[in-house]
Amino acid sequence: MLIFEPVKIGTMELKNRICMPAIHHCFTPDGTVNERLIKYYQTRAEGGAALITVGGCAIDRIGGGPMMIGIYDDRFIEGLAALAGAVKNAGARVAAQLYQAGRYTHSMFSGQQAFGCAFPLYPGNPAGDDPGRDRNGHRKLCCRRPAG
Ligand SMILES: Cc1cc2nc3c(=O)[nH]c(=O)nc-3n(C[C@H](O)[C@H](O)[C@H](O)COP(=O)(O)O)c2cc1C
Repeated sequence: MLIFEPVKIGTMELKNRICMPAIHHCFTPDGTVNERLIKYYQTRAEGGAALITVGGCAIDRIGGGPMMIGIYDDRFIEGLAALAGAVKNAGARVAAQLYQAGRYTHSMFSGQQAFGCAFPLYPGNPAGDDPGRDRNGHRKLCCRRPAG
């Protein structure tokens, strides 16, 4: 069956076409990769998945939820390297899903105010020029204009 045949994506060769998508597991209370998370993904790699996408991985503290894997600070590197090594040794390739939830984040988790979509608003936007509204005319949680 084709699903068990190897495939190349650019220069990366996968041993089959079984890919595990990102699933947020709440295994990392402080964002740091730990033994539980490593074991979880290692087991999936040993089970035969060829490509495992880890995550979502929060790219900053405001944009991630509690218990998510963190990739916004150097202190996470050691754990992430151990995770990547364990998955590779078990025969799979590994990717990280980058995560920033924008206006979907909750201040009660981060202690900071969330931010909405990017500026400028596009022409024809029903909200016109209103920087306080997104492209659907909904009020933004907060507005930050880029410098300049
Ligand atoms: C508990 C749980 C957590 C998930 N977390 C993420 C996530 O962090 N990022 C993402 O893109 N999808 C996430 N998903 C969606 C899955 O990656 C997958 O696309 C979805 O479950 C559909 O696949 P399925 O029909 O095989 O379940 C999550 C799904 C579940 C059930």
